[in-house]
Amino acid sequence: MLTSIRNSSVLTAQFRLGACRVGNATTLKASQLFSRKQQRFAHTPTRNAGFKQLTSADIEQFKSMLPSETILATPAVGGSSDPVELEGFNADWLNKYRGASQLVLRPKSTQEVADILRYCNENQIAVVPQGGNTGLVGGSVPVHDEVVLSLRNLNKIRGYDEVSGVLACDAGCVLEELDNYVAERGHTMPLDLGAKGSCHIGGNVATNAGGIRFLRYGSLHGSVLGLEVVLPDGTILDNMSLLRKDNTGYDLKQLFIGSEGTLGVITGVSLLTPRRPAAVNVAVLGVSSYEQVQVAFKLARQRCGEILSAFEFWDASCMGAVLHHHALRNPLSSEFPFYVLIETSGSNKSHDDEKLSELLEELMEAEVVEDGALAQDDSQIAKMWTMREGIPESLGKTGATYKYDVSIPIPVLYDVVGDIASRLEAAGLYKQGDTTRPVKLVCGYGHIGDSNLHLNIVADKFQDKVTDIFEPFVYEWVQSHRGSISAEHGIGLMKRDYLKYSKSSPMIDYMKRIKSLFDPKGILNPYKVV
Ligand code: FAD
Ligand code: MLT
Ligand code: ZN
Repeated sequence: MLTSIRNSSVLTAQFRLGACRVGNATTLKASQLFSRKQQRFAHTPTRNAGFKQLTSADIEQFKSMLPSETILATPAVGGSSDPVELEGFNADWLNKYRGASQLVLRPKSTQEVADILRYCNENQIAVVPQGGNTGLVGGSVPVHDEVVLSLRNLNKIRGYDEVSGVLACDAGCVLEELDNYVAERGHTMPLDLGAKGSCHIGGNVATNAGGIRFLRYGSLHGSVLGLEVVLPDGTILDNMSLLRKDNTGYDLKQLFIGSEGTLGVITGVSLLTPRRPAAVNVAVLGVSSYEQVQVAFKLARQRCGEILSAFEFWDASCMGAVLHHHALRNPLSSEFPFYVLIETSGSNKSHDDEKLSELLEELMEAEVVEDGALAQDDSQIAKMWTMREGIPESLGKTGATYKYDVSIPIPVLYDVVGDIASRLEAAGLYKQGDTTRPVKLVCGYGHIGDSNLHLNIVADKFQDKVTDIFEPFVYEWVQSHRGSISAEHGIGLMKRDYLKYSKSSPMIDYMKRIKSLFDPKGILNPYKVV
């Protein structure tokens, strides 16, 4: 039936019942993070005894380099900050990893970052760079007592060229704030993700974040034009190019994109911002099988290729969680095994409306899609996006969430969800619908347009007994299907020991050589990636 796609009044009435809020990492506050008991994994690497343990003399040195209000040091290292103030810097967003740092430094300039790193390098003090701390692989928090180097005070826009759309800014600028800034000038950031209200552009570059606009604007490897990076020995690499074309030898900035804070600290970013689309349409569709999701994607590209800006999917378990935790109602007439969100962005509203309507009609007539809803205004668009972007937060509220962000060829992409569920069932840890078992949900969602699945397993707590059922199985599964063990979140601490499933040993060997070239003493983000 086509009615709910066409009948805007029905849709509006349904949506009016729910409060609108776009999923945002800031919604889990530090106090909530610490209300859940945290497990330390058997796989946690032991502390490298070569790293210096901080003393009050070190704190005095940092005080001579930085304004006092930018330093948080606990009494354990001769400071006076309440350890509670450091908790938010020590625990990750998933509440899965927790360090024991006693010192957080929040420099306000590139020169201060350079002074800190030079001192740490000379004194063999380990450092973890931290942006918005929304990373999902344990990369942004200390493993032991590393100094946290927070970039949050480096948050100025350095310049904007409205003709070329080139933005230059500090690394600690929050993605959503940058998007608001360029929106006022008719442009958009080339990336968008559920954590936009908290993550920093420097963190985005350091993780080579993907997100929901990857389908349209591609990777940060293409959008980033220049970087300013401070190396572990304090050298400032000023590569803040504002040019799209620059073929002057090796493109060093590419090495830092996706390096997860292991090669240098990014302090400045310049990047290309596309024109903001004048016309945006969003539809949510109910689909009866994963096969039909693929048919819908193929047809969407055929019919709306030039205006298609996102094609996301999620399964019924994700929908259940998001509707439970957000004040939203399903805009469709009933429940479906799969949901698809299609977004078009273009410059001519009537042209885009017509193309999308034709696509939706064709999908319905061919019975690829069983029901759908087309947003009638910006508020409905926001609510539909909440249904997709609110999934991570909803799963986090359901329980301890194991996250795998894998790239798998589209035809077999969803099979891994069933295979993992079967393994957990065979081990007696999971039965769909039975919340008394240790594992409550096994579900999948993601950026299907980019072959990127988010496989999530929600348990009552993180524990090795559960983890061992699907690790390394999930990585072996991905390797055997020629996939990647990380499509967008990176390696961090979580996947460090599993890199071999996506990289050959000569490649890992060269990665290690690059690491020791930039960071011979290994002080920067130790225990992570390689
Ligand atoms: P952090 O979490 O602070 O750090 C991440 C890594 O980068 C760490 O290794 C850290 O050491 C390093 N780092 C941070 N800043 C710097 C710097 N200035 N210089 C050097 N190294 C640095 N990711 C996606 O790719 N796509 C998504 O769609 C997506 N959606 C998300 C939705 C939610 C609700 C959440 C919580 C996370 C999501 N993420 C997603 C993951 C995360 O938001 C991204 O990885 C983001 O880019 C991290 O930015 P951050 O500033 O929070 O970095
Ligand atoms: C997303 O696409 O929602 C993010 O990558 C976060 C997640 O994987 O949960
Ligand atoms: Zn994602």
